[in-house]
Amino acid sequence: MKFARFLMKNAALANVPKQIERFSRFSPSPLSMKQFLDFGTVNACEKTSFAFLRHELPVRLANTMREIAILPDPLLGTPSVQLVQSWYIQSLMDILEFQDKSSDDQIALSDFAEALIIIRNRHNNVVPTMAQGVTEYKEAFGVDPVTNQNVQYFLDRFYMSRISIRMLINQHTLLFDGSMNPAHPKHIGSIDPHCDVIEVVNDAFESAKMLCDQYYLASPQLLVKQANAKASEQPIHIVYVPSHLYHMLFELFKNSMRATVESHEDNPSLPPVEVNVVLGKEDLTIKVSDRGGGVPLRKIENLFSYMYSTAPTPVMEDNSRNAPLAGFGYGLPISRLYAQYFQGDLKLYSTEGYGTDAVIYLKALSSESVEKLPVFNKSAWKHYQINTEADDWCVPSSEPKNLAR
Ligand SMILES: Nc1ncnc2c1ncn2[C@@H]1O[C@H](COP(=O)(O)OP(=O)(O)OP(=O)(O)O)[C@@H](O)[C@H]1O
Ligand SMILES: [Mg+2]
Repeated sequence: MKFARFLMKNAALANVPKQIERFSRFSPSPLSMKQFLDFGTVNACEKTSFAFLRHELPVRLANTMREIAILPDPLLGTPSVQLVQSWYIQSLMDILEFQDKSSDDQIALSDFAEALIIIRNRHNNVVPTMAQGVTEYKEAFGVDPVTNQNVQYFLDRFYMSRISIRMLINQHTLLFDGSMNPAHPKHIGSIDPHCDVIEVVNDAFESAKMLCDQYYLASPQLLVKQANAKASEQPIHIVYVPSHLYHMLFELFKNSMRATVESHEDNPSLPPVEVNVVLGKEDLTIKVSDRGGGVPLRKIENLFSYMYSTAPTPVMEDNSRNAPLAGFGYGLPISRLYAQYFQGDLKLYSTEGYGTDAVIYLKALSSESVEKLPVFNKSAWKHYQINTEADDWCVPSSEPKNLAR
């Protein structure tokens, strides 16, 4: 019996490259916020969601797996990236088990939901594990602009795909586990159709403040301004995933607080962190302004880089726990991906010597909030082809001499 199972498992494993090839021929299907909501309300049907996901999840996984497979050997070969790759293979195999099942089979439906939860948990530590792989690579081979560009391109797409896969899994498991979310009965899975932006701002600020107080024994105040250009006097609501918005704001507040406290060490009073929330016709804009001394323009691009992250080498702890992101220097790049996931963006404008404005742009209209998804195709492949051509702009020196210490 055991042997038969072993043989079956091996046969499934041998079949994986073919399945990756097959599913990566499909492009992922981006869902709009409206479609997410429809899935959860009028058309709430576990069978439809099952039929959609058992195809769409392999498509998204396989597109990403093709891209992992063409990473440069020294990075692909690190134990960490190998581990991540093995998780993807296992999860793809787990979902393929359901290809021949009937959507009328109740047991298959509940097994599927269970399998999704196992997959989600298996992938909990993908970000720190991948970060570990990049660090190992960096230590062995250093950083050059071409590699940095390729790793940046890959990780932005890889993490975006991961955000989207987790979104699909969360929606299915939250909607069809038979119980309502008691804390948020009006949420459709992880989406709040009336997300109160100011409330999320306050929540994220409070959490960041707690960390800041713990660490520095001081923290700046929050000053919030809001303007609803669509309907003045009305509170600002948006159809959004509150946990995504919270994540972005929490990261921005941590950064602003740290910069404020550290640049005012000798000053008894701290300037506040100001937040300006404006709802326009097209954009919902959230500007977080601090007076934390700012960042020189030359460095801004690197703040979003996975490879130039200034964070010290992370120590991988017990892999079964949900490792905290803190310290990887991934706060900004991952937050930008959350903003871009539904067609928004996150930008940093700094005034060196004074402070920083970090701006989150979200789509004001849910009809324009559509998933932004990577697809593996020829143009993606071309991006990875080594480009060692000379720069077409003169480069006198990468660092001003008197600053290069
Ligand atoms: N508001 C800001 N003012 C000044 N410097 C900033 C500000 N926001 C970010 N930075 C700089 O950008 C760097 C990168 O920020 P990021 O949030 O991506 O990583 P981190 O804060 O170092 O680590 P993590 O957020 O992962 O714990 C910071 O280390 C800091 O030097
Ligand atoms: Mg940070």
